[in-house]
Amino acid sequence: MEKEMIIVMDFGGQYNQLIARRVRECHVYCEVHPNTLSLEKIREMNPKGIIFTGGPNSVYKEESPKCPKEIFELGIPTLGICYGHQLTSHLLGGVVETAPTSEYGKTEMIVDAEDSMLFDGVKKDSIVWMSHTDYVAKVPEGFRVTAHTDVCPVAAMENPEKKFYGIQAHPEVNHTEEGQKILSNFVHKICGCGDSWQMSDFKERTIEEIRNKIGNGKALLALSGGVDSSVAGVLMAQAIGEQLTCVFVDHGLLRKDEGDQVEAVFGPNGPYKLNFIRVNAQERFYKKLEGVEDPEKKRHIIGEEFIRVFEEEAKKIGTVDYFVQGTIYPDVIESGLGHSATIKSHHNVGGLPEHVDFKEIIEPLRMLFKDEVRALGKELGIPDYLVYRQPFPGPGLGVRIIGAVTAEKVRIVQEADAIYREEVEKAGVKGLGQYFAALTNMRSVGVMGDGRTYDYAIALRAVCTSDFMTAEAAEIPWPVLSRVATRVVNEVKGVNRVLYDCTDKPPATIEFE
Ligand code: XMP
Repeated sequence: MEKEMIIVMDFGGQYNQLIARRVRECHVYCEVHPNTLSLEKIREMNPKGIIFTGGPNSVYKEESPKCPKEIFELGIPTLGICYGHQLTSHLLGGVVETAPTSEYGKTEMIVDAEDSMLFDGVKKDSIVWMSHTDYVAKVPEGFRVTAHTDVCPVAAMENPEKKFYGIQAHPEVNHTEEGQKILSNFVHKICGCGDSWQMSDFKERTIEEIRNKIGNGKALLALSGGVDSSVAGVLMAQAIGEQLTCVFVDHGLLRKDEGDQVEAVFGPNGPYKLNFIRVNAQERFYKKLEGVEDPEKKRHIIGEEFIRVFEEEAKKIGTVDYFVQGTIYPDVIESGLGHSATIKSHHNVGGLPEHVDFKEIIEPLRMLFKDEVRALGKELGIPDYLVYRQPFPGPGLGVRIIGAVTAEKVRIVQEADAIYREEVEKAGVKGLGQYFAALTNMRSVGVMGDGRTYDYAIALRAVCTSDFMTAEAAEIPWPVLSRVATRVVNEVKGVNRVLYDCTDKPPATIEFE
């Protein structure tokens, strides 16, 4: 049976993948496509509904992105959001103008047509998220106004016979109180979709697509052991098995036992038949980092060396057809910004090497958000310790050791971090976005037994955050901290003091360098 699908047509808005995600949350399969998608292709895909997204342009300008008017003759229900709402009006003969007053942020929307299917079960007055300078001044023939706000006379409109709908606000963002209900009404009640999609479908569909695309070709993946590249790796392994080569560079800056954990899943004794190459490049990285204290220089060296090691391995394999990256949707948005000041130069394992021969890049997780990637990981049978792993920076412990890195300092921070994680997990502390131990470069005087010590201080950090752009220092219960302090000092040679970092971000950052 052909699967039910909703198409999101992208007109350049900020939240387009979020719309797709919300539709998937309604258990309906959804794909985002450019606005240039042809009518023929749409017919072929046979979607149950089409959503036109927002976008920064004015529909009445010649150069603005459009779609063919004939889309409205396919007999497919449509929902225009923001620019998409205006575009629906414009293409069907309504009037769009610059509004006398722009509307940004939270606004109260009043539903005028309580019998509207789009607003079925939605409160008459609710808070919506608005972001527009143009508005629909006059609806096209056959349409009626279904909602308004103080400054927007046509906050929503519809032609229920033809199943064309438009809404000026953004139902996909959390600020829109009834947003999920509105989207659910569209996909279920208007388009007639059932709860037909689960993550298992995504898995199967993607595996099939990968197989069709790669055929007998070869693919190469840079595996970091992080959640994203691990999920991409298992997905690829299940799709193409031995045609996949995973190169895992152990730069000696991973958490305790992490390299072995990755090898347990992907290596020769793991469940998959693939080509797994583990490069133990620890010494090489330590050598390059010798005596380097500047954080940005360290980041640069680690990033650069990673690429070099990876390239050397890739050369041994020869030409591959595809290079696989575990890019997920938030990476796509972040890399699209690019105007903000460089606080830290981020390095993502899986970044693109310059001298590897491949024909094409494959990014199988490109449309997923982090929690969806985790759900897919579970679906693929990846162990929880990999799926629920906290974010870990590409340069690894290199940015959790202040100042110059040595093998000895790496050992200290690995041991302390393992104890900290073990105790936090044992105590069941919830709600932490990230927590880890770092090695301050500070040594201080202590007393152990009857003797003087002059050893390092470990800093413990834990933050609550959802977006990692801002974060609050977490309140770890004192007995937990106290136990960690005792254990670290007793069990980790070279440490005689444990500090707790209670700084938020900003002004501090999450990592120490
Ligand atoms: P900061 O320290 O900037 O960290 O507050 C924010 C989040 O980003 C992670 N981080 C990185 N992730 N490559 C990465 O993939 C990097 O170079 C990098 N530096 C920091 C950090 O762990 C936190 O989650």
